Amino acid sequence: MNKFVFLAAAAFAPLLLVGPAHADLALATAKGCTACHQIDKRVVGPAYGQVAACYASKDAKVLAESRTQLIKHVKEGGAGKWGPIPMPAHPAVANEDVAKIVDWVLTQKPMECPKEFKPKA
Ligand code: HEC
Repeated sequence: MNKFVFLAAAAFAPLLLVGPAHADLALATAKGCTACHQIDKRVVGPAYGQVAACYASKDAKVLAESRTQLIKHVKEGGAGKWGPIPMPAHPAVANEDVAKIVDWVLTQKPMECPKEFKPKA
């Protein structure tokens, strides 16, 4: 591989990473999630960077269980993990779309996991 090709590949690699991330921000926006959630700031609901931090795990099995729980929590709604404000249920958002958004949420840059977070409400 010549030097130019290598440099070009290195220069464009970040674009490839950014592409799909934006696609799922678009999905989260289309499904109304961003009315209460931002990536790096707590609004009505936790910042997605906080969610990523609190559920971070090197254990693939633990991660898979968290993912299932998160999808369920978004679909059914509920309160108590992040504070008293409830998240409404989202029965109209397809499981597949919720799963895509949750996968994207879990890959956000981790912030600090707040002390009041309770993994099991
Ligand atoms: C009306 C405001 C509101 C909307 C709309 C909303 N959320 Fe939430 N979300 C919240 C609140 C409040 C919490 C904290 C709930 C708790 O403490 O258990 C939360 C929690 C979460 C969590 C963490 C759940 C957990 O078990 O730790 C995820 C992930 C999440 N929301 C994703 C979504 C997605 C995806 C959508 C769009 C389909 C969405 N939210 C729409 C308010 C909202």
